[in-house]
Amino acid sequence: MSDVKLVAKPGEVQFAKGLEGVIARETTKSYVDGKNGKLYYHGIPIEELAENSSFEEVFFLLMYDRLPTEGEFDYFKSRMVQYREIQPEVYEYIRRASGRYNDTPMSVLRTAVSMLASFDDSAEEDSLPAHEREAIKITSRMATITAAIGRARRGLEPIHPRPDLSHAANFLYMLFGEEPDPFYARVMDVILILHADHGCNASTFATIVVKSTLSDMYSSIVAGIAALKGPLHGGANQRALRMLREIGEPEKAEEWVLNALAKKRRIMGFGHRVYKAYDPRARILHKYAVEMTQREDADPQLRKYLQMAEIIERVMIERVGKKGIFPNVDFYSGVVMSSMGIDDELFTPIFATSRVAGWTAHALEQRLDNRIFRPRFVYVGPAEDHWIPIEERKKPEQEPTPLKPLERMV
Ligand code: SDX
Repeated sequence: MSDVKLVAKPGEVQFAKGLEGVIARETTKSYVDGKNGKLYYHGIPIEELAENSSFEEVFFLLMYDRLPTEGEFDYFKSRMVQYREIQPEVYEYIRRASGRYNDTPMSVLRTAVSMLASFDDSAEEDSLPAHEREAIKITSRMATITAAIGRARRGLEPIHPRPDLSHAANFLYMLFGEEPDPFYARVMDVILILHADHGCNASTFATIVVKSTLSDMYSSIVAGIAALKGPLHGGANQRALRMLREIGEPEKAEEWVLNALAKKRRIMGFGHRVYKAYDPRARILHKYAVEMTQREDADPQLRKYLQMAEIIERVMIERVGKKGIFPNVDFYSGVVMSSMGIDDELFTPIFATSRVAGWTAHALEQRLDNRIFRPRFVYVGPAEDHWIPIEERKKPEQEPTPLKPLERMV
């Protein structure tokens, strides 16, 4: 690497923008086969896990690289239950923040998780047992925080966790205040399984970069939340549903998408840096969406959304499928969650409530075999220059960057 040119003219040195295709580390957690549209958690196909497993079991698998025995699983679940409750101060922050304009659910989630650290006396302890305990605490409490945010946004008091429900069922109970129908508890469990890990995506990468400096687990997870907040990553599921709402009717869907593509707009819920085939998670969520329309208690809106989504999928695959652009996990997840009565602003916090399992597992993996991340830039700025006294300076004709210094405070 020493012969790489690190001072050059703009565009002179070839490099992988966005680190596309660059290997960051070895992992045993998950493998994304982008060419064939396959996803494996520690070798187990996502379809088998969605069919047979639970979020708690997948969390154990990601943490310990194997499925638990019955005794281990019972104990692991009891520890997750033990750490469900959050401090009154965190509930109070969520209540106050959720009324303010610029506190989006993801920014409230980011701050609330950060607050958890101040109540954890081992938060700064750099030991494996402490990290493992924090992984379980944070993963368990993210569900409680997300449910409390969902209720506070509606001006409702939080519902405290119950010890007798599964993680997914307890989340829906804390969100809606009643024990969920077993079918919907299963759908939520599958949503949490599907989003739990996905190779070196932007938020997982942010998490391990922070962990690689030996910073604490809470800081690593807050970095992951911050990265997932962006619309090109976790925020797409909310925008995909809002796109369907904007289109309004199935009859308008094809023309809307063709116009958007003609204007080079990105269709939310499509495309992927790794998948150049159908995202297997989207296929599973589509199946549940169809199953949900066939239930007696089906949300009438769901049938319309699903019809629009299937039209958009057909048009997109016809038009840009050859470019490797297919539905990703975010395309159908919003349709499914909205038909469960979940507000679209909670979709990305729910994504985070699942992905925290992967983030914590990768943070532990990084800690166990660490080397601080420190890539290089290629410097394309001005060559040797010198400082000049302020009285000799004058404003340049052309600003060197798009930024323009403020001449007075606005
Ligand atoms: C997630 O990394 C992960 O694993 C992420 C994730 C996970 O589980 O962690 O899977 C979760 O983030 C899913 C992705 C959610 N985001 C979206 O749905 C937002 C819309 N999609 C994109 O903006 C885009 O597809 C990305 C960001 C997901 C991937 O972008 P890339 O790999 O950087 O692709 P690109 O920007 O280089 O685009 C390549 C071409 C471009 O066309 P050309 O300039 O070559 O003509 O494909 C086009 C793009 O315009 N394109 C799209 C498109 N996505 C890419 N055109 C229309 N609609 C889209 N959605």
